[in-house]
Amino acid sequence: MNGYIYNRYNLKNKVAIITGGGGLLGKMHAEAIAEAGGIPVIVDINKNASDKVSKFLKEKLGADSLSVKTDITKKDQLIELRRKILKKYSKIDILINNAANNPKVKKKGLIQERFEKFTLDMWYKDIAVGLTGAFLCSQIFGETMAKNGSGVILNISSDLGIIAPDQRIYTKKGVPEEKQPVKPVTYSVIKHGLIGLTRYMATYWCNKGIRVNALCPGGVYNNQPEEFVKKLTNLIPMGRMAEPDDYKGAVQFLCSDASSYMTGSVVVIDGGRTCW
Ligand SMILES: NC(=O)c1ccc[n+]([C@@H]2O[C@H](COP(=O)([O-])OP(=O)(O)OC[C@H]3O[C@@H](n4cnc5c(N)ncnc54)[C@H](O)[C@@H]3O)[C@@H](O)[C@H]2O)c1
Repeated sequence: MNGYIYNRYNLKNKVAIITGGGGLLGKMHAEAIAEAGGIPVIVDINKNASDKVSKFLKEKLGADSLSVKTDITKKDQLIELRRKILKKYSKIDILINNAANNPKVKKKGLIQERFEKFTLDMWYKDIAVGLTGAFLCSQIFGETMAKNGSGVILNISSDLGIIAPDQRIYTKKGVPEEKQPVKPVTYSVIKHGLIGLTRYMATYWCNKGIRVNALCPGGVYNNQPEEFVKKLTNLIPMGRMAEPDDYKGAVQFLCSDASSYMTGSVVVIDGGRTCW
């Protein structure tokens, strides 16, 4: 496609770090960046997963990418990652804070995930990846962007960064209330927290050419049990869960000059769920 506005979506040679890049949505973000001409740096604690994404991008799009095993909760590993990227590409243009511990609501009632029984250990583990990891990545890579006078940070929050989880959709028939599965408290805290981090950094770095925005995706269909899908889709005006590629357009928009006047914004893409 040609023309002024399409050219602004061009990410040619832009180096884009995607944390949790080996996961379900991380792969889609990497594809979105590569399709727009950028170079995804796929960062994941699971090297097998990030390698697979890198291989896929090469085979499908002929795209250059880098797959790196890094634990984003470890500052020394992130500093080493920055060194590697700068050695290879000399710059960092985009950071997508996407990684999450992501404890899924399990099929059987998991008593310890209920609020009253939620352990400090679980609290720290989730926060370490979802919030502390995003803070550390932003601090370390954002510093490089600030020195360079330009950059984009995109924080992946959730529709549950805007509203509370509706715990009724996770309930199982015949299970006593105190054993019913729930969406863990850390999910809400992290996703709301990422919006705070977004607004803080957007204003903190407004004079350094760094734009910081948050994307709030709704639930992605990933072979969840039929009963759950039915309950969730009843809460969504569009009547369906998201497809994994439903967010690619937004990622290209938010990471490119097409959104050049946007910072501190919260973009909700949820089939209308948060309207209801
Ligand atoms: N899938 C959805 O329905 C959905 C909906 C809304 C928001 N989100 C958000 O989108 C993001 C991606 O979700 P997803 O479904 O792709 O999750 P996912 O579990 O498939 O991917 C998360 C990735 O993060 C990696 N990771 C975990 N800890 C790490 C660490 N310490 N260092 C580096 N990498 C680490 C995992 O190995 C995994 O590959 C998450 O922030 C999630 O909360 C997802």
